[in-house]
Amino acid sequence: MKKIIVKNSGYIELPRVVDERDGVLSIMEGNRDIPFEIKRVYYINHLENCHSVRGKHAHKTLKQVIFCINGSFVLSFDDGTNTQDVLMWRDNVGVLLGPGLWHTMHSFSSGCILLVVASDYYDEADYIRDYDEFMKFAGAMK
Ligand code: TYD
Repeated sequence: MKKIIVKNSGYIELPRVVDERDGVLSIMEGNRDIPFEIKRVYYINHLENCHSVRGKHAHKTLKQVIFCINGSFVLSFDDGTNTQDVLMWRDNVGVLLGPGLWHTMHSFSSGCILLVVASDYYDEADYIRDYDEFMKFAGAMK
């Protein structure tokens, strides 16, 4: 796995129970496997594959862990200093997106499904949707 160099991030590997022909069970518990209390879960599917782009924002305080539970996609993220692309394809290995990370999800495979767990309820006021504003925010966080 490519080393994550952007700040406020890292891989989260979930424990799994492999039942051979009966499938694989992957588990996430808040404050244990996931480094915060989970207040919200959402998933994204029905993507138009190579044409779809999601994200293009950062959060001021929200923490999230993003998983690709089927297929693959590329997560591009940026802490204002370092930028990085990670190919997401392991269904039990997510990436922590802490505050102040501009992130974009793209290059979705067919049948791709994203699952995201978040530390708080949806709040549009926590979003930074303008890249110049994000760069100011990231500069102030240094
Ligand atoms: P957004 O977070 O921008 O999606 P993504 O990062 O995947 O591209 O959200 C898209 C729309 O969905 C936006 O209008 C807000 C709404 N939304 C909610 O109402 N609740 C939620 O929990 C989320 C994640 C989004």
